[in-house]
Amino acid sequence: MKNRSLISIDDFSKEEFIKILDLAEEFEKNPNQRILEGKVVATLFFEPSTRTRLSFESAVNRLGGRVIGFSDVASSSVKKGESLKDTIKTVANYCDLIVMRHPVEGSARFASEVSSVPIINAGDGANQHPTQCLLDLYSIRKTQGTLDDLNVAFVGDLKYGRTVHSLSIALTQFNTTYHLVSPQELKLPSAVKIYIKDRKLDYFQYTDLTEAIPKADILYVTRIQRERFSEPIEYEKVKNSYNLHKGLLEGAKPNLKVLHPLPRVNEIDENVDDTKQAYYFQQALNGVYVRQAILKAILGL
Ligand code: CP
Repeated sequence: MKNRSLISIDDFSKEEFIKILDLAEEFEKNPNQRILEGKVVATLFFEPSTRTRLSFESAVNRLGGRVIGFSDVASSSVKKGESLKDTIKTVANYCDLIVMRHPVEGSARFASEVSSVPIINAGDGANQHPTQCLLDLYSIRKTQGTLDDLNVAFVGDLKYGRTVHSLSIALTQFNTTYHLVSPQELKLPSAVKIYIKDRKLDYFQYTDLTEAIPKADILYVTRIQRERFSEPIEYEKVKNSYNLHKGLLEGAKPNLKVLHPLPRVNEIDENVDDTKQAYYFQQALNGVYVRQAILKAILGL
């Protein structure tokens, strides 16, 4: 993995996923190690973020590295019309690795083609979010004791949810059965369903959340991605499609865990937060250990 960019989750093999997860377990036991001393990581966020940016920055800080970057495009020369290519070529002169979030699908791949340092895709539009995927895999393995042969229910915006796309693809390596719960308008893209089918795995589609809950080992709930809709009226029609509340978990399997990449809007009621199934805040914490592991692997430390 040394010096490679991480753009799409299928850039990495199953063995590489497992290596990152094993490394993350070591960081969970001992998160403060100074292996990044002398290294500079740039975080370039052209779109808002709380977890991805701050967990990367926390990861770098805990490893003794330094962070530069921006979280507000208006404070950068992008505001003056500088191109993505020029921004990346310039920032690459100042750092050892770039973590980038950008609203345009394919922008991370483009950045990796013009950069002299590795690029980590922290989300490119509705396409992919590979580091979220690795922390999701870590959270699933930690709560279920395995990644193999699980029933995973994806709930919400399966069309625009980049975390859903990355995780659906990665789970094809682990004999997963998919339960896809969404409004008709927000189904998983055909390309991802074909990817699943080509690997001889089953998926079942629902609009009713209650049908999927009793079958699931993992309930992966997502927000309806308002920022991806071109027509606000279309968002209004589907924005309240799902509301997972405590009562709906009564018929669940004993091992069920509820995951969510966050932020949530109203798709998980706060009364779920204190149940034994809620795992989303721990999932966000796991992001620090997994991103420490990714930084170590890519920087070859
Ligand atoms: N899960 C995730 O990408 O969260 P942020 O948008 O807060 O980074």
